[in-house]
Parts: sequence; structure tokens; C-alpha cells
Amino acid sequence: MKKAISFELQSNNIAIITIDLPDSKVNLLSRDTMLELDQCIEEAKSKNAKGIIVCSGKEDNFGAGADVQQIRALQNEPPEHCYEASKMGKEVFAKLASLNSLAAVHGTCLGGFTELALACKYRIASPDKKTQIGVPEIQLGFVPGWGATVRLPRLIGAEQAFKLISTGKNVDAKKAYKLGVVDQIVEKDNFIAEANEILSGKEPKRASVPIDKSLRRFFIDKTPIGQALFAKMAKGAVYAATKGKYPAPPEALKVVLKAISTDEDKLDSVFDKESQAFAKLATTPVSSNLVNIFFAQTESKKTNFDTKNSEKPKVIGVLGAGVMGAGIAQAAAYKGFEVYLKDIDQAALDKGVQTVKGLFDNLVEKGRMSESEAKEKFALLKGTLSYNDMSNCDIVIEAVLEKLSVKEAVRAELEKVITKPFIFASNTSSLSISEMAKGSRHEDKVVGVHFFNPVHKMPLVEIVRGDKTSSETEALAQEFAMKLGKTTVITGDAPGFVVNRILAPYMREAIVMAQDGVPMADIEKAALSFGMPMGPFALLDEVGLDIASHVIKTLHQGLGERMVPPAVMAEIDNLKLLGRKGKKGIYLYNEKGDRQFVKEKKKKRYLFNPDVEAIMAKHSKGLKKTAGEIQDRLFLAMAAEAARCLEEKVVTAPSQLDLAMIFGIGFPPFVGGICRYMDSMGVALAYQKLSYLAQVAGLNYEPCKLLEEMAMQRKSFYQ
Ligand SMILES: NC(=O)c1ccc[n+]([C@@H]2O[C@H](COP(=O)([O-])OP(=O)(O)OC[C@H]3O[C@@H](n4cnc5c(N)ncnc54)[C@H](O)[C@@H]3O)[C@@H](O)[C@H]2O)c1
Repeated sequence: MKKAISFELQSNNIAIITIDLPDSKVNLLSRDTMLELDQCIEEAKSKNAKGIIVCSGKEDNFGAGADVQQIRALQNEPPEHCYEASKMGKEVFAKLASLNSLAAVHGTCLGGFTELALACKYRIASPDKKTQIGVPEIQLGFVPGWGATVRLPRLIGAEQAFKLISTGKNVDAKKAYKLGVVDQIVEKDNFIAEANEILSGKEPKRASVPIDKSLRRFFIDKTPIGQALFAKMAKGAVYAATKGKYPAPPEALKVVLKAISTDEDKLDSVFDKESQAFAKLATTPVSSNLVNIFFAQTESKKTNFDTKNSEKPKVIGVLGAGVMGAGIAQAAAYKGFEVYLKDIDQAALDKGVQTVKGLFDNLVEKGRMSESEAKEKFALLKGTLSYNDMSNCDIVIEAVLEKLSVKEAVRAELEKVITKPFIFASNTSSLSISEMAKGSRHEDKVVGVHFFNPVHKMPLVEIVRGDKTSSETEALAQEFAMKLGKTTVITGDAPGFVVNRILAPYMREAIVMAQDGVPMADIEKAALSFGMPMGPFALLDEVGLDIASHVIKTLHQGLGERMVPPAVMAEIDNLKLLGRKGKKGIYLYNEKGDRQFVKEKKKKRYLFNPDVEAIMAKHSKGLKKTAGEIQDRLFLAMAAEAARCLEEKVVTAPSQLDLAMIFGIGFPPFVGGICRYMDSMGVALAYQKLSYLAQVAGLNYEPCKLLEEMAMQRKSFYQ
């Protein structure tokens, strides 16, 4: 077997350990790699090396972290096995920590590799944009297990370390240097020369820390009152971000606090505490669910066609400069594409171009882009009213009116001016891609590329395959969306595709319960306590009541009686409410578009629109429901439709469906998705509950054949 690590002893007696995992784009720390690393360190020791430089043989990757496949396998074993894996890695890193060692970091450096670097006596990093350092373990539901929770706070202070650990976010080399994670910035080509000097005694050029920052650090890390205040503040921030649904951040905080308050000679007990926390957390259902999402995301990046010989889209056209068109155009220009944005109306075009500019201005304001970079990117956008300007486009995304005849007409117009083959991608939310392709010169090049609103915030894009869409078109559209930084899910050409189809029964059911008398506030509360980012009524307002009503009606047409709009819907439609964008919906909004509220017992009570409340009161049957019953009604309505999507093969795998719901509507990641939710409950029980609800609450709960079979055979979605 090819080795992952090479060892070289230079003539100056300083060893170079180069990690270069064979047949892999990135370095991963598996058990075997860790054993090899251990052997190399032992070799350096046995040869009395004066120092050790650890670097990577990969072009732009120091290391992507521990091998998550191995962690996943350990999750199904007793927690002691996770504990042992943590201890084993720590022992290797402890050897590095006891020697004159230096990590030379270029490219991505994540998780276990950051822990390796932290164990070294020194760290240098290249100033390259690709150098990103972080400890993202929390996103998988556990704390770093190879020492970062102990070493990082001692190196840069509890406050900054906890920020990095509890968010799992990366920092670039410049930020890492300022924080003190990195001792010196060095060009990659000078790594070995500079490392040799540092290991031979030259002091690295560390960043100076402003006096106010070092005083603050001293107060938090070294005084009991500072520690207590920091602990209180951090606990509050964690709760606000996680609502108590994620156990890892509070556990990380406990270790961080111990790390700063324990003397150097007693640190072993803190390292051990970290291993215990890692083992406990990695074996929780929350962590399994998060790891599962990680793999679903990896899976979603695979394409069904190898595009290495295909012409990749370079020039992008966007039709319609409205809400979606402007967002898509900005996303493409942001990633460096030349973009033509066309509308039929000068005022609409101007507004769209202004929206794009506003999005770039926002990035500059937030410090995420320099003014000159924003200017450069904005200049890639050309607004036009003429198809003639689009003759060079390789892909055109249409975001015009949601009307088949209009979509067909714009496609035909484009085919007149673009003489080469090009991809016609529709952003439709409900129309059939196969219908839209009929009569096209290149039916195989028509595909759905369904972005979510607002485009710059929503991470999902559904790639919709029509009857004639070729695998090449599907793959090119998927790769294009990924280039815009989106997560993609491939769906069949069925009404509502996946996300809207599964979301609609949930929103519909919230309205049905409210119309039967369940207080809207109780429904909102039950959804929030389940872990949804907002309640169904707030979501209806966010989506826009006009759009939501249109989606439910379209799904009723496409999928039949189980999607029939609730009786009150027509009356709510008559109020002509738009939701948040119109400052009035199911809730009331202020001028800034925030929900209006009153304070009661120090808590906010958001104000519902009395006109909507009056409609619900008129229909009320005085129905009472507990939070658990409301949750069953809401989430089992989703579950029934999700199972149908799988049965009809609208989406290929439960993991992709779950990914779509998490990234498309913010379904709680700690639950793992709607299929994971059924698995946790037990598919047989989900089936039983659905059968009961189908009798007492409505047709939409009728379980499909697939669920019945799975229940009979005691199967789960994730075997
Ligand atoms: N708004 C959403 O939340 C959302 C989400 C996903 C998908 N969609 C879909 O995206 C599409 C656009 O929706 P929107 O909300 O951006 O609409 P919008 O009304 O904000 O914008 C539509 C724009 O298209 C322009 N237009 C109309 N006919 C045109 C033509 N022939 N050529 C060029 N431009 C033309 C209009 O002038 C308008 O500026 C629809 O298919 C919609 O279903 C919308």
C-alpha cells in the first residue's frame, strides 16, 4: 500500500514530514494516517532531529480533517470506542507538542489538521486566499477531539477560541495571524527556508495585540469574575443560536473554561475531559443526523454525466429582472460570470439592476468585499431590453412571469438570436419543464433550475429533469448552480418538484387547524419548539400569501383532492394581503418590514392581523390541540408527501430529499430531515399515526403504498 506520509531528514538535522494521501485530492486523518504520522515522529526522535516541519504534499490543501467515514462507523459503536480514537490521536499530537515542531500551512486546514498544527510549537501560513483555517466539528454535532478545545483557548484566549469552536467557521491566514493562531505569514515558496530558521532559534514575527484586546483577554482568562461573566454571556449567545437543540456548544464551553482555568501541569485532566465530551457527543442522535447531512451533501455534488469534454457555460443570460432574475444575475456576476439581464420594461430593468448594485453595496458595507472588487463584479452585468445582446449566451435562465405561454415565447425568441446550442434553464416554481421544452430546437437542452427566494441567502437549487433533458444538460446546470455556491438536488418534473410539494401540505395543515379553532399562536409555538426557524404563518408571510396561495392551487390541480385549498383560503385571498413584502399578511408589520409585537411578561407577543383572526374565528369549531398533537399534524402531513415523492421517484434517495428540505426551508438539521424524522419515530409508528389521521383529519394523511410496505417489513429509510 502506498504511504500517506513521507519523512526526510535535511542536512541541518531538521526533519520534514510531508502528508500526501495517495489517490485523494485532499489529506484526511484516518487511523492509518495517524499511525504513519506516529512512526515518522518516532523516526525523527530516534535520529535526534533538531526539529520537525509538518507540511502537505497537496497543491491547495493542508488537510480536510479527520476521516468522517471512520467517525460515522464509530457512531454505531459504544462511546468508549470514540473515546479511545480521541485518546489515540491525542497521544500522537502530544509527541509533536513535546518537540521543536512547526506546521507550514497552505490551503484548507480543517478539524484534525488544525489540531495537528495547534499541537506544534510554531505555525506559519501562506497569505493565499485558499488558506483557510478552522475547526468545523461543531457542525457535525461534536467538539474537536484532538486537543483544539484545550490548546486554542490557551493560545488565543477563551473568547476568540470559543467563537471559532462554537460556530465552526474558518478564518483566512490574515485573520488567523491577527488572532495569534498563526505565528507568521510566509509565502509558500519560502516555507522550508523560514521554517528552518524558526526551528533553529529565530523568533517568528508575531502580530502585535492592541492593549485593549490584551486587557480584555487577561480579564476573561485570568480573573474569576471575568470567567464568570464570559461564561454567562457565552451561554446566552449559545442558547439564542441553538434554542437548546444542539448539545455540543455548551459542552465545548465547559472544556474551554476548564482549559483557561487549569495550570499547565494539570492539563491532562482537561484533555481527558475533551475526549469524554467528544465521545459523548459523537454518539448522540443529533450528531448522527448532522453527519448524515454531511454525506448527503457530498453525494449531491456527484453528477450523472462526466462533463470533462463538454463546453462549460461562460456567458450567462437572465430573462426577467424581477425578484428572482435580479438575484440570479447578482449571484452569477458575484462568481465572475459575464451576465446579460433582460427585461421587457425599462423601469423593471432599472429596478433589477439597482437591486444587483444594492446587493454588492451590502457586501462592501459588511466588509465581505472591497469597493473595487464590488465595482469590478458589478461591471460584469449588462442590462438590456434586446434579445440581440444575448446572442453569445451559453445558458439563459428565465425568471419571467409564471405562465407557460410566456415561457415558451421567450424560449422561441432566444432560439432566433442564439444560433449555437445553448441551455434554456427555467426558474419556474410550478410549470412542467417537459411541456416547456416542446417545440424547442434542442429539447435536450431545456432544464429546470429552481432557485429559492432570496437567491443570495437561500443555499438550495432544485435541478429539474424534463422528459427530454439530457444527462449532459442536467450535469452542466448542476455544476453551474454549484459554481454559484449552491447545494443542488436533482428532481423529477412533477408538480411542485420536491421542496414546495412537501412544504405545501405543512402550510395548508396550519391553516386547516387554525380554521378549526386551534389558536394560531399555539401552532406557531409548536413548530418553533420542534426546531423550525419560524412558524408556518410567519413562513406564509415570508413566501408571500399571493405566491403561497398560487402554489397550493397549482398543487391541487396537479396532485388532486388531498391538496384542496382550505375553505378560508378564498376569504384570505379576498383580503389581497401579500405578507411581509406588502407589510400586511397573517401578521402585522412595521414600515421596516419587521413583525409588530407587544411585550408581555418580558416576552414578545407578535400581533396577528385582526382581519385574518376574524376569518378564522368565523369558521372555528373550537378545536383544542396539545403541542405534540399540533406537531404530528404539521410534520406528518409533510412526511406523507415526502414518502410519495420517493415512491414516485421524484427524488432518488431519502438523503437527497432530506437535504432539499433542510437547505430549502430550514427544516431542523438536528432532526436530520423528514425521512430521518420518520426513522427516529419508527416507520411503523409513522404509518399507524398517518392511517389514524387519514380517518380523522383528512385525505392528505393517507399513507402511500411504499410506507405501508416499509411498515410491514419493519424497514427504515436509512438502513
Ligand atoms: N418570487 C419567488 O419567491 C419565486 C421563487 C422561486 C421561483 N420563482 C419563479 O421565478 C419566476 C419569476 O418570479 P419573480 O418573483 O421574480 O417575478 P417578478 O414579477 O418579480 O419578475 C418578473 C419579471 O419578468 C419581466 N418579464 C415579463 N415578461 C418578460 C419577457 N417576455 N421577457 C423578459 N422579462 C419579462 C417582468 O417585467 C418582471 O420584471 C416565476 O416563474 C416564479 O414562479 C419565484
